[in-house]
Amino acid sequence: MKNIKAIIFDAYGTLFDVNSAAEKCKDQIGDKWEGFANFWRTTQLEYTWLRSLMKRHKDFWKITEDSLDKSMKAFNIDPSMKDELLNLYKVLSPFKEVPEVLKDLKEKNFKLAILSNGTPDLLNELVKSNNLDNVFDDLFSIEQVGIYKPDSKVYDMPINKYCIEKNEVAFLSANTWDVSGGGNYGYQSIWVNRNKNIFDNLDYKPNNEVKDLRELINLV
Ligand code: LAC
Repeated sequence: MKNIKAIIFDAYGTLFDVNSAAEKCKDQIGDKWEGFANFWRTTQLEYTWLRSLMKRHKDFWKITEDSLDKSMKAFNIDPSMKDELLNLYKVLSPFKEVPEVLKDLKEKNFKLAILSNGTPDLLNELVKSNNLDNVFDDLFSIEQVGIYKPDSKVYDMPINKYCIEKNEVAFLSANTWDVSGGGNYGYQSIWVNRNKNIFDNLDYKPNNEVKDLRELINLV
Protein backbone atom coordinates (compact mmCIF):
# COMPACT_ATOMS: atom_id res chain seq x y z
CA MET A 1 0.00 0.00 0.00
CA LYS A 2 1.44 3.37 -1.00
CA ASN A 3 1.20 6.86 0.51
CA ILE A 4 -0.47 5.81 3.73
CA LYS A 5 -0.52 8.61 6.31
CA ALA A 6 -3.02 7.27 8.80
CA ILE A 7 -3.89 3.77 9.94
CA ILE A 8 -7.45 3.67 11.20
CA PHE A 9 -8.87 0.71 13.07
CA ASP A 10 -12.39 -0.42 13.73
CA ALA A 11 -12.67 -1.36 17.42
CA TYR A 12 -15.31 -4.01 18.10
CA GLY A 13 -14.48 -7.33 16.51
CA THR A 14 -11.27 -5.99 14.96
CA LEU A 15 -9.05 -4.97 17.88
CA PHE A 16 -11.28 -6.24 20.68
CA ASP A 17 -13.01 -9.60 20.84
CA VAL A 18 -16.76 -8.98 21.15
CA ASN A 19 -17.30 -12.62 22.13
CA SER A 20 -14.98 -12.36 25.11
CA ALA A 21 -17.71 -11.07 27.46
CA ALA A 22 -19.92 -14.14 26.96
CA GLU A 23 -16.89 -16.43 26.84
CA LYS A 24 -15.84 -15.31 30.31
CA CYS A 25 -19.30 -16.46 31.51
CA LYS A 26 -19.34 -19.75 29.64
CA ASP A 27 -19.42 -21.81 32.82
CA GLN A 28 -22.72 -20.22 33.79
CA ILE A 29 -24.15 -19.97 30.24
CA GLY A 30 -23.06 -23.42 29.07
CA ASP A 31 -22.52 -24.66 25.50
CA LYS A 32 -24.86 -22.10 23.98
CA TRP A 33 -22.50 -19.24 24.96
CA GLU A 34 -21.12 -18.82 21.43
CA GLY A 35 -24.51 -18.82 19.70
CA PHE A 36 -25.69 -16.34 22.29
CA ALA A 37 -22.63 -14.10 21.75
CA ASN A 38 -23.16 -14.09 17.97
CA PHE A 39 -26.87 -13.35 18.33
CA TRP A 40 -26.14 -10.46 20.73
CA ARG A 41 -23.59 -8.98 18.30
CA THR A 42 -25.84 -9.36 15.26
CA THR A 43 -28.80 -7.81 17.07
CA GLN A 44 -26.63 -4.93 18.31
CA LEU A 45 -25.46 -4.15 14.76
CA GLU A 46 -28.98 -4.44 13.33
CA TYR A 47 -30.14 -1.90 15.89
CA THR A 48 -27.40 0.56 14.80
CA TRP A 49 -28.45 0.30 11.16
CA LEU A 50 -32.18 0.42 11.92
CA ARG A 51 -31.87 3.41 14.22
CA SER A 52 -29.78 5.27 11.63
CA LEU A 53 -32.40 4.59 8.95
CA MET A 54 -35.27 5.52 11.28
CA LYS A 55 -33.38 8.64 12.44
CA ARG A 56 -33.87 7.56 16.04
CA HIS A 57 -30.35 7.70 17.40
CA LYS A 58 -29.49 6.04 20.68
CA ASP A 59 -25.90 5.66 21.84
CA PHE A 60 -23.97 2.41 21.44
CA TRP A 61 -23.99 1.61 25.14
CA LYS A 62 -27.80 1.76 25.29
CA ILE A 63 -28.03 -0.27 22.09
CA THR A 64 -25.67 -2.84 23.58
CA GLU A 65 -28.01 -3.14 26.56
CA ASP A 66 -31.18 -3.25 24.42
CA SER A 67 -29.72 -5.99 22.25
CA LEU A 68 -28.51 -7.89 25.33
CA ASP A 69 -32.05 -7.86 26.79
CA LYS A 70 -33.47 -9.41 23.62
CA SER A 71 -30.63 -11.93 23.35
CA MET A 72 -30.94 -13.06 26.97
CA LYS A 73 -34.64 -13.71 26.42
CA ALA A 74 -33.98 -15.53 23.15
CA PHE A 75 -31.40 -17.82 24.78
CA ASN A 76 -33.20 -18.18 28.08
CA ILE A 77 -30.34 -16.80 30.15
CA ASP A 78 -30.86 -15.99 33.80
CA PRO A 79 -31.64 -12.23 34.08
CA SER A 80 -29.29 -12.00 37.08
CA MET A 81 -26.35 -12.29 34.64
CA LYS A 82 -27.13 -9.05 32.85
CA ASP A 83 -24.92 -6.71 34.89
CA GLU A 84 -21.96 -9.05 34.73
CA LEU A 85 -22.23 -9.37 30.93
CA LEU A 86 -22.56 -5.63 30.48
CA ASN A 87 -19.61 -4.89 32.75
CA LEU A 88 -17.48 -7.39 30.85
CA TYR A 89 -18.42 -5.65 27.60
CA LYS A 90 -16.72 -2.51 28.92
CA VAL A 91 -13.41 -4.31 29.30
CA LEU A 92 -13.38 -6.64 26.29
CA SER A 93 -10.06 -8.36 25.66
CA PRO A 94 -7.98 -7.50 22.61
CA PHE A 95 -7.05 -10.23 20.14
CA LYS A 96 -3.72 -11.62 21.24
CA GLU A 97 -1.35 -9.99 18.71
CA VAL A 98 -3.00 -6.56 18.93
CA PRO A 99 -1.02 -4.87 21.77
CA GLU A 100 2.36 -5.82 20.31
CA VAL A 101 1.53 -4.79 16.73
CA LEU A 102 0.10 -1.46 17.85
CA LYS A 103 3.18 -0.70 19.90
CA ASP A 104 5.43 -1.51 16.88
CA LEU A 105 3.36 0.74 14.63
CA LYS A 106 3.58 3.53 17.14
CA GLU A 107 7.33 3.71 16.42
CA LYS A 108 6.58 4.54 12.78
CA ASN A 109 5.41 7.75 11.31
CA PHE A 110 1.65 7.14 10.94
CA LYS A 111 -1.33 8.65 12.62
CA LEU A 112 -2.98 5.79 14.53
CA ALA A 113 -6.63 6.02 15.45
CA ILE A 114 -9.76 4.08 16.27
CA LEU A 115 -12.95 4.89 14.34
CA SER A 116 -15.88 3.25 16.06
CA ASN A 117 -19.56 3.10 16.84
CA GLY A 118 -18.61 3.08 20.53
CA THR A 119 -19.25 6.11 22.72
CA PRO A 120 -16.21 8.20 23.76
CA ASP A 121 -16.50 6.83 27.33
CA LEU A 122 -16.63 3.23 26.14
CA LEU A 123 -13.64 3.66 23.83
CA ASN A 124 -11.61 5.39 26.53
CA GLU A 125 -12.34 2.63 28.99
CA LEU A 126 -11.57 -0.10 26.45
CA VAL A 127 -8.13 1.25 25.61
CA LYS A 128 -7.35 2.10 29.23
CA SER A 129 -8.32 -1.29 30.62
CA ASN A 130 -6.01 -2.88 28.05
CA ASN A 131 -3.09 -0.48 28.61
CA LEU A 132 -3.39 0.91 25.10
CA ASP A 133 -4.21 4.49 26.03
CA ASN A 134 -0.85 5.86 24.86
CA VAL A 135 -0.95 4.22 21.46
CA PHE A 136 -3.62 6.17 19.61
CA ASP A 137 -3.60 9.75 18.34
CA ASP A 138 -7.41 9.79 18.35
CA LEU A 139 -10.42 7.73 19.32
CA PHE A 140 -13.06 8.84 16.82
CA SER A 141 -16.58 8.04 18.02
CA ILE A 142 -19.68 8.20 15.84
CA GLU A 143 -21.26 10.24 18.66
CA GLN A 144 -19.42 13.22 17.12
CA VAL A 145 -21.62 12.93 14.02
CA GLY A 146 -24.70 11.27 15.54
CA ILE A 147 -25.13 8.48 13.01
CA TYR A 148 -23.73 4.96 12.78
CA LYS A 149 -21.41 3.33 10.29
CA PRO A 150 -21.50 2.99 7.34
CA ASP A 151 -22.72 6.59 6.92
CA SER A 152 -20.03 8.58 5.12
CA LYS A 153 -20.09 11.27 7.84
CA VAL A 154 -18.40 8.72 10.09
CA TYR A 155 -15.58 8.02 7.63
CA ASP A 156 -15.15 11.78 7.06
CA MET A 157 -13.91 12.34 10.62
CA PRO A 158 -10.25 11.33 10.28
CA ILE A 159 -9.98 12.99 6.85
CA ASN A 160 -11.16 16.29 8.27
CA LYS A 161 -9.04 16.09 11.41
CA TYR A 162 -5.79 15.14 9.66
CA CYS A 163 -6.39 17.10 6.42
CA ILE A 164 -5.47 14.10 4.28
CA GLU A 165 -6.95 12.40 1.22
CA LYS A 166 -9.27 9.42 1.57
CA ASN A 167 -6.78 7.11 -0.14
CA GLU A 168 -4.06 8.07 2.35
CA VAL A 169 -5.95 6.09 4.99
CA ALA A 170 -5.40 2.38 5.56
CA PHE A 171 -8.63 1.25 7.16
CA LEU A 172 -8.81 -2.07 8.96
CA SER A 173 -11.94 -3.86 9.98
CA ALA A 174 -12.93 -7.45 10.61
CA ASN A 175 -16.55 -6.53 9.89
CA THR A 176 -17.09 -7.13 6.19
CA TRP A 177 -19.82 -4.50 5.92
CA ASP A 178 -17.51 -1.92 7.54
CA VAL A 179 -14.70 -2.80 5.11
CA SER A 180 -17.19 -2.19 2.28
CA GLY A 181 -18.35 1.02 3.96
CA GLY A 182 -14.85 2.45 4.38
CA GLY A 183 -13.58 1.15 1.04
CA ASN A 184 -16.59 2.42 -0.86
CA TYR A 185 -15.99 5.78 0.79
CA GLY A 186 -12.46 5.87 -0.62
CA TYR A 187 -10.14 4.47 2.03
CA GLN A 188 -7.59 1.79 1.17
CA SER A 189 -9.18 -1.12 2.95
CA ILE A 190 -7.78 -4.12 4.75
CA TRP A 191 -10.12 -6.91 5.75
CA VAL A 192 -9.00 -8.67 8.93
CA ASN A 193 -10.34 -12.14 8.24
CA ARG A 194 -9.45 -14.15 11.33
CA ASN A 195 -11.96 -16.95 10.76
CA LYS A 196 -11.87 -17.64 7.02
CA ASN A 197 -15.19 -15.90 6.49
CA ILE A 198 -16.77 -15.13 3.14
CA PHE A 199 -16.86 -11.51 1.97
CA ASP A 200 -20.09 -9.67 1.18
CA ASN A 201 -21.68 -9.20 -2.24
CA LEU A 202 -21.91 -5.44 -2.10
CA ASP A 203 -20.06 -4.65 -5.34
CA TYR A 204 -16.88 -3.95 -3.43
CA LYS A 205 -13.83 -6.06 -2.75
CA PRO A 206 -11.22 -5.16 -0.11
CA ASN A 207 -7.82 -3.89 -1.29
CA ASN A 208 -6.11 -6.35 1.04
CA GLU A 209 -6.98 -9.25 3.29
CA VAL A 210 -4.98 -10.36 6.35
CA LYS A 211 -5.41 -13.17 8.88
CA ASP A 212 -4.45 -10.95 11.75
CA LEU A 213 -2.73 -7.64 12.42
CA ARG A 214 0.82 -8.99 12.22
CA GLU A 215 0.66 -8.86 8.40
CA LEU A 216 -0.07 -5.15 8.53
CA ILE A 217 3.54 -4.14 9.21
CA ASN A 218 4.62 -5.41 5.78
CA LEU A 219 1.64 -3.90 3.99
CA VAL A 220 2.15 -0.28 4.98
C1 LAC B 1 -17.25 -0.52 15.65
C2 LAC B 1 -18.12 -1.69 15.31
C3 LAC B 1 -18.56 -1.69 13.92
O1 LAC B 1 -16.31 -0.59 16.48
O2 LAC B 1 -17.45 -2.87 15.48
O3 LAC B 1 -17.51 0.52 15.07
